[in-house]
Amino acid sequence: MSTRVEFIAALTRIVGPQACLTEVADTVGYTTDYRKLYRGDALAVVLPASTEEVSQVMALCHAHGVRVVPQGGNTSLMGGAVPEQDSGAIVLNLRRMNRVLAVDTVNDTLTLQAGVTLSGARAAADEAKRLFPLRIGSEGSCQIGGNLATNAGGTAVLRYGNMRDLVLGIEAVLPDGRIYSSLRGLRKDNTGYDLKQLFIGSEGTLGIITAAVLKLYPQPRAVAAAFVAVSDPGAAVQLLGLAKQLAGPQVTAFELVSADAMALVCDYLGDARPPLAGQPAWMVLMEFSATGEQAALDAQLTQVLEAGMEQGWVQDAALAASLSDVQAFWRLREEISDAQTRTGGSIKCDVSVPLSDIPAFIEQASQQVQTLAPGSRMVIYGHMGDGNVHFNPLRPADTPAREYLDQHYSTVSHAVDQLVHRLNGSISAEHGIGVAKRDDLRLYKSEVELALMWQVKRALDPKALLNPGKMLPAEG
Ligand code: MLT
Ligand code: ZN
Repeated sequence: MSTRVEFIAALTRIVGPQACLTEVADTVGYTTDYRKLYRGDALAVVLPASTEEVSQVMALCHAHGVRVVPQGGNTSLMGGAVPEQDSGAIVLNLRRMNRVLAVDTVNDTLTLQAGVTLSGARAAADEAKRLFPLRIGSEGSCQIGGNLATNAGGTAVLRYGNMRDLVLGIEAVLPDGRIYSSLRGLRKDNTGYDLKQLFIGSEGTLGIITAAVLKLYPQPRAVAAAFVAVSDPGAAVQLLGLAKQLAGPQVTAFELVSADAMALVCDYLGDARPPLAGQPAWMVLMEFSATGEQAALDAQLTQVLEAGMEQGWVQDAALAASLSDVQAFWRLREEISDAQTRTGGSIKCDVSVPLSDIPAFIEQASQQVQTLAPGSRMVIYGHMGDGNVHFNPLRPADTPAREYLDQHYSTVSHAVDQLVHRLNGSISAEHGIGVAKRDDLRLYKSEVELALMWQVKRALDPKALLNPGKMLPAEG
């Protein structure tokens, strides 16, 4: 097949004319990332409706050496799901593959196509009186395939683990069009390499996940939440230890929020009031959940808060009195991300360090930021229970976003990453690598790790067709 026109015609024969987009007006939404920081272009955007169609598209691309960018809800914060400029790639978006295939309440499994949104997966579980526990702010747009390809985390990892822990089987189309399937719901299967785990967190560089079997959990009947003012991040770490000791697995979420993060989100939402008086410097959103009685769970949360107060770790607390209070608390937490996107000029550092080092990390990193970029607002929040902090210095209100980022992005993010590395942490705890952190990986992975990553890539994708330019730094 010699020309672009013939190639597009062949793609169209596989997916149908409505599902092969080539006009820029139709493709631009797929070639620009959610934050509008990364803009690429594509030969075409294809929207297959079945695994068979994905397989045929891949076989065609493989035969002609055409690169493919797999895409789910396009909510990556790292530019991982859009093509680069002049990449000559097609985008393969899975949104039409959005069927829930089976909900099995005996084996507690949920089988679905990769294009089901996270909120669709949670709703399917809910209808069957079960819980699918992955919880992230973008649940209405992000898709299960993308959640798996990026090993998504979110606000309930403390109790349930991240996507890697929540999956029992996957189906994926390989770069040459072959279909790998482990669509089984087994809890035990020690028959060699756990191949599915290769695709999870691979950011679409090894295969295209088309379906999955996920774990279901009992639905909690009781939920108790509180916004708690703590004296400092060290007190928050102590409070978490106490909560785990007294309430065990009922501790579902433990999210740190700085004063600047709270001020930003309240300002952005307009109609939201801060949950605690006096603008505390540090807050924690704690959530407990259980299958037992509400009153018992409330008593347990109160007991933890009282004990925390006695120790001097808790300064004040606002308890949710109803489910709508719980939701209002979570809205404040989850909208911090969008508040930054809309404000612009945010240096996003999604890092993790051992829990015990979080106070030192925050203190030292904040000092460095104030030296390098004085006046930055310290938007610091995140999944403290997992050692994961979103440490996102934000431009001063009177500095334009572009000016702030041009001046400070590189120095600040490198200083933060180096500190994280010294503390034996990770420069990307849950958002992945994409394009944003690709070249930095070379600084923080050992030679052996990088060589193994490339060996795996070459073994599965010898023609380097899948998600070009993402995750793996150039060799050498
Ligand atoms: C969150 O936890 O809200 C997101 O992972 C952080 C973000 O969007 O920066
Ligand atoms: Zn997060």
